[in-house]
Amino acid sequence: MLNNFFNPKSIAVIGASRTPGKIGYDILKNVIQYGYQGAVFPINPEASEILGLKAYPSILDVPDEIELAVVAVPPKRVLEVIGQCGEKGISAAVIITAGFRESGSEGTKLEDELVKKARESGVRFIGPNCLGMIDTHSRINTSFFSAGMPNKGNIGFFSQSGALGIAVLDLALSEDIGFSKFISMGNKADISDEEIMQALAEDENTKVILGYIEGVKDGKKFVEIASQVSKKKPLIILKSGITSAGIKAASSHTGALAGREASFDAAFKQSGVIRARTVGELFNYAVAFANQPLPQGPNVAILTNSGGPGIIAADACDRFGLQLVPLHKETVDELRNFLPPFASFYNPVDILGDATAERYEKALYLVVQDEKVQGVIVILTPTAVVDVEGTAKAIANIANLIDKPILTSFMGKKSIESGSKILTKYHVPNYSYPEHAVSSLNVMYQYNVWTKRPEKVYPNFEGLKDKALDIFETVRGEKREHLTDSEIYEVLHAYGFLQLRSLMARTSEEAVAAAKVIGYPVVMKIVSPQILHKSDIGGVKLNINSKKEVENTFFDITTRVKHIMPTAQINGVMIQEMVSGGKEVIIGITQDAQFGHMIMFGLGGIYVEVLKDIAFRIAPLSKEDAYEMIRETKVFPLLRGVRGEAESDIDAIEKSILLLSQMALDFPQIIEAEINPLVVKKRGEGVVAIDARFIIGGN
Ligand code: COA
Repeated sequence: MLNNFFNPKSIAVIGASRTPGKIGYDILKNVIQYGYQGAVFPINPEASEILGLKAYPSILDVPDEIELAVVAVPPKRVLEVIGQCGEKGISAAVIITAGFRESGSEGTKLEDELVKKARESGVRFIGPNCLGMIDTHSRINTSFFSAGMPNKGNIGFFSQSGALGIAVLDLALSEDIGFSKFISMGNKADISDEEIMQALAEDENTKVILGYIEGVKDGKKFVEIASQVSKKKPLIILKSGITSAGIKAASSHTGALAGREASFDAAFKQSGVIRARTVGELFNYAVAFANQPLPQGPNVAILTNSGGPGIIAADACDRFGLQLVPLHKETVDELRNFLPPFASFYNPVDILGDATAERYEKALYLVVQDEKVQGVIVILTPTAVVDVEGTAKAIANIANLIDKPILTSFMGKKSIESGSKILTKYHVPNYSYPEHAVSSLNVMYQYNVWTKRPEKVYPNFEGLKDKALDIFETVRGEKREHLTDSEIYEVLHAYGFLQLRSLMARTSEEAVAAAKVIGYPVVMKIVSPQILHKSDIGGVKLNINSKKEVENTFFDITTRVKHIMPTAQINGVMIQEMVSGGKEVIIGITQDAQFGHMIMFGLGGIYVEVLKDIAFRIAPLSKEDAYEMIRETKVFPLLRGVRGEAESDIDAIEKSILLLSQMALDFPQIIEAEINPLVVKKRGEGVVAIDARFIIGGN
């Protein structure tokens, strides 16, 4: 895929400059100076020769075939040049030129024209406004990165920011970290992140994929492709920046809670993307995946020459959910046989500050061979007697023998530098801080779990939509944004949600009659299309036990609402069966500008926005998504039951979440919806939708 970009037989540099220091000059220099074997054609109307190569006024003057064009002419010339590429039969271009969408409305117009021109001309392109692209295996460097060619390696990196790309490549050079490919994506006007991820997934020289993005164009597509890619190779992404322009002012809890980052968090979780929060993490994770095998389980052993850092690493394991596994008795006995008596033979194994390289080697060999151990963190603090280089070599020897991950933390900088270089050379990732080694091992473990997950199963709820269609049609016909209480009742009923018996009362007398039919105690709720959060204005009263109370409450609620919201239209008061027992959760639908419908689950009731104990997933949800999002929240242990409480009906919540996901698919016009509270009863007894609201768009 995208073979002409990464493995072209010939390259034209259009806008190759004669002047050192100009971008067009540096690009041409980079194209020719790192061992690229194909033909190179500088294109410049003013020059006959540049950097010893014959130059042509235009690509149309080049007699030979050209497979890749690197474009570095001023913005106004780019369209013409792309047209010529089409005429010449060049199907791949890297457009370095800036001055497009990133520069304002004129640039946006120019970029749109560029896309159109490229489509007409049959030219696919990376950029514009990019740094270029590098392939260390085919020795292509179309960038104007001046610090050199990155080392050959197995990390494929695509970056929306050229500047970050430069910084990362520079850092990687100084740390001897190798790359397979680097692609500066620029404005992503044509070739998208998804296409590059797919190309890197298929690339045999790439073992791990890194990405830096500020946003995605098509959220659904991103989730679809990232899910496929992450099953093949670890996909680590650093995401920054504003995610979605134009988030509508949220009028439900679900909307208010969704926030800008919730959608990316959900998308990454659902598609197996490993999220790096900092550039440091991006690197840390990349070198771990690039160099070591995946741990087959969470069981970790720590080997250290000092107590404190060993404990720090142990704490970090605990935080991430990795297990400090007790070593086999035989391992402990063998350690005891050769280690000094003051050493610690249990995990963390502390081989003391005077540990020699030989002691490290012997101890590590025993620990890593222990069949309970699935990964090892080796810590070294540079004591006066430690042999940094010898120890690094000893660790590297064992790491190359054993098919379990070994990550090191040679702590410090100056004293351990030579050891760190040896470790890097022999593919043992080294971290200055033990926590970083642990967090990297943890993401490797999590990734292994992800790759082993069975294919996602999507529920099949057929025929539910038909029953609710009329209601949504009516709302559309009447150009309304909200569903009325009775419409909400019908929609939830259509989707199989159990609801409380409710009767509408327009007068106090009707309220008394309704309460009698339903049976005391009852709940009374104001019904008004303008009031979405009834509790907030005292529009809900619970536990009403007598005729007198019904009459008083009717008067109370209606006068209060008239007072607080004089313009609100009051349709009456709903008399509802009072539910007792159970736990309150919230489930909801919200719209994200990039990812479309998202489904929310969390702790319900009136504290939802304060506690923000919620999880999101992008619709449609698989059964696994629903299962996992429930377990992600703090309300989950409460649902399992604490101190002898009965377990709640978690299966019923799962089903409710999936039904809501189906509803979101069936009715794209839903902007926000939520059921809050959804009362969860004991296992086997189901859930009851107590209150709900729906906001509809596109009418
Ligand atoms: N075909 C071929 N060559 C052409 C040409 C054409 N249609 N039009 C102009 N050229 C030649 C010029 O003669 C010149 O060569 P010379 O220096 O030997 O005279 C060369 O192309 C460059 O043109 P010039 O007008 O001098 O432009 P420039 O070098 O000042 O700027 C860019 C060109 C592309 C570098 C500039 O427009 C730009 O976009 N810079 C920012 C790039 C960037 O930051 N990208 C994002 C990184 S993250």
